[in-house]
Amino acid sequence: MGLVNSVEMFKKAYAGGYAIGAFNVNNMEIIQGITEAAKEENAPLILQVSSGARKYANHTYLMKLIEAAIVETDLPICVHLDHGDTFELCKSCIDGGFTSVMIDGSSKPFKDNIALTKQVVEYAHDKGITVEGELGRLAGVEDEVKVSEKDSSYTDPDDVEEFVKSTGVDSLAIAIGTSHGAYKFKGDAKLRFDILEEVQKRLPGYPIVLHGASSVIPEYVDEINKYGGQMPGAKGVPEDMLRKAATMAVCKINIDSDIRLAVTATLRKYFAENPSHFDPRQYLTPARAEIKKLVKHKLVSVLGCNGKA
Ligand code: G3H
Ligand code: 13P
Ligand code: ZN
Repeated sequence: MGLVNSVEMFKKAYAGGYAIGAFNVNNMEIIQGITEAAKEENAPLILQVSSGARKYANHTYLMKLIEAAIVETDLPICVHLDHGDTFELCKSCIDGGFTSVMIDGSSKPFKDNIALTKQVVEYAHDKGITVEGELGRLAGVEDEVKVSEKDSSYTDPDDVEEFVKSTGVDSLAIAIGTSHGAYKFKGDAKLRFDILEEVQKRLPGYPIVLHGASSVIPEYVDEINKYGGQMPGAKGVPEDMLRKAATMAVCKINIDSDIRLAVTATLRKYFAENPSHFDPRQYLTPARAEIKKLVKHKLVSVLGCNGKA
């Protein structure tokens, strides 16, 4: 099918009560693990690239790897900029072939967020590219910017209609208690489904995005801690909560940390069991296989988008 924007994906996901997985990609093995899983499950996909990923792997390398994945899978794939923070960054990704961008003005005052988002929407829509905006602030770390719990804030449902109407943005990321990284909750996990419900009421049929949605799979954390890692207290969003969100207005669920944990757990175990190995193909093979297994599980049991490509 090839490169697509998010319009049709979200329309079908909203109507079908499922969500599209938006997985962060940084290298060949991650792209292969995710896209092989999606191919076997016949699932639509969003592959998202942060500015950190672009710095690490280079825009052209990532674009070409994704083009290769399209040739190999024939799936509809949306290539999306994750957490764009300036008009120039969004423009550079659009000009470089991305089919969707996020402009994250969530740290700015409301009016400034509207102005910046509108500027990106005008440039993007002219070229058939979709735009995600954000209202409310998630705690956690993204691109080395740490948002403390104190500076995080839930989305105010009173703001969403004005934001969407005056920007023309295609989807909206909201803050309901998820956060980036591997340490999301100190006590019990709690998401503000009341806010999601209220947003859904104010914006009927409109696609909502959930960031910080890794489950921080306990088996990976246990494995990492067993083989010399130190991640005590790591905790994520329970999968049943994500499943519930996917049946509501949430059409896009962002997952990065779980992939990082899958790779790290696999490599720690591998090196403990094979201390003399030094060929990257040997240890990256099981890491890539674990990403594939993890993504298949997410597509089928969390997102419900298997068979929907
Ligand atoms: O939201 C952040 C994503 O997990 C991407 O992380 O900025 O370190 O690439 P990164
Ligand atoms: P996690 O850290 O929960 O995987 O969230 C990733 C994310 O929201 C990327 O934008
Ligand atoms: Zn995010």
